[in-house]
Amino acid sequence: MSVKINENYLLLQNSYLFIEIARRIDEFQKNNPEVDIIRMGIGDVTKPLTPTVLTAFKKAVVEMGDEKTFMGYGPEQGYPFLIKTIIKNDFEPLGVNLELDEVFISDGSKCDTGNIQEIFDLNNKIAVTDPVYPVYVDTNVMAGRTGHIKDNGMYEGLVYLPCIQENDFVPELPKEKVDIIYLCFPNNPTGTTLNKEQLTKFVEYAKENESIILFDAAYEKFITEDDVPHSIYEIDGAKEVAIEFRSFSKTAGFTGTRCAYTIVPKELKAVDSYGNLQSVNELWNRRQTTKFNGVSYPVQKAAEATFTEEGKKEIMDNIEYYMNNSKIIRESLANIGLNVYGGVNSPYIWVKTPNDMDSWDFFDLLLNEANVVGTPGAGFGSSGEGYLRLTAFNSLENTKEAMKRISELSF
Ligand code: MLT
Repeated sequence: MSVKINENYLLLQNSYLFIEIARRIDEFQKNNPEVDIIRMGIGDVTKPLTPTVLTAFKKAVVEMGDEKTFMGYGPEQGYPFLIKTIIKNDFEPLGVNLELDEVFISDGSKCDTGNIQEIFDLNNKIAVTDPVYPVYVDTNVMAGRTGHIKDNGMYEGLVYLPCIQENDFVPELPKEKVDIIYLCFPNNPTGTTLNKEQLTKFVEYAKENESIILFDAAYEKFITEDDVPHSIYEIDGAKEVAIEFRSFSKTAGFTGTRCAYTIVPKELKAVDSYGNLQSVNELWNRRQTTKFNGVSYPVQKAAEATFTEEGKKEIMDNIEYYMNNSKIIRESLANIGLNVYGGVNSPYIWVKTPNDMDSWDFFDLLLNEANVVGTPGAGFGSSGEGYLRLTAFNSLENTKEAMKRISELSF
């Protein structure tokens, strides 16, 4: 064999976090087939598509079966009907004006946050918060931008911005100049947020340092507090320095249906090796039209229906249902003396492990003794060690049962 592999893949940690968790659950279930495991690990929703969304979805499927209404390839960037609806509902109320060709519909924020890095040079210095959604790191590893992993689990070429109890999970600005900063707020995994003033500091940093912020706002619909921005473009001048990622996955139950969108403002420029400014929007458009053929018509029709009056109400009801679970989790764990964070503006609750137990030990304890699955904080980076993430996406009954089981444990 003479074919050489992309050796950057060998620099990755063994397996993607959620695959490793699934492996441990499978093994436990095989040995304990009678046990009823409650899954609060991966952030996957449990409520089905709402009636209004389903009606639109079905109608569009029927159109696909009729010669007169059948749709072939759609625009790679998404259908204008969905883009217009997104701008009108998600941005105009915030005072943010966007043009149609600044919005790119896609099949997920995981894909977009993973793919976006390929339009930027390999020598860019990258900063990530720590803990962090693993996709941002792993895709930069695959691209060859990070170098090797060190003993402490950190890559030598990345700049890490710790989000820990000691700084209220608010990352400090990078001490050195970085080119690209990944921010996810409301945060996955800690469930915490930045207020407007805190996010403004990052936008100002990016302007001063000519950096770009990749802002993952997949959880913005879960925000309950007034001072928390829903979009980075609420901050003056952010269009010159930020790309924003949004998703229907957690908001409207589209984790299996797949639909998301990414905003790439035309003001955003990056420089080529001759010092000429290039439009990031045009590069992303070029990337998408080459490598992506768009989201299916029925899925985009289903996504559009989330913005009808009835659709919005149904979706907010589901979000409130999950946020009630979140409250139950926070209160139950606090009652047994655990320190809990997040969960107020997000469906994730970040739990400090008892007695300084390490994350994977606490994960195993919960799985073995309470038959509840969380996500070990260490899987999100070294500053996640000593924490475990629970999601509020299970049913109310299961959430209550899980809290009962955990409360019966002695730590
Ligand atoms: C998570 O559990 O962190 C999410 O499910 C990840 C994702 O949305 O890909």
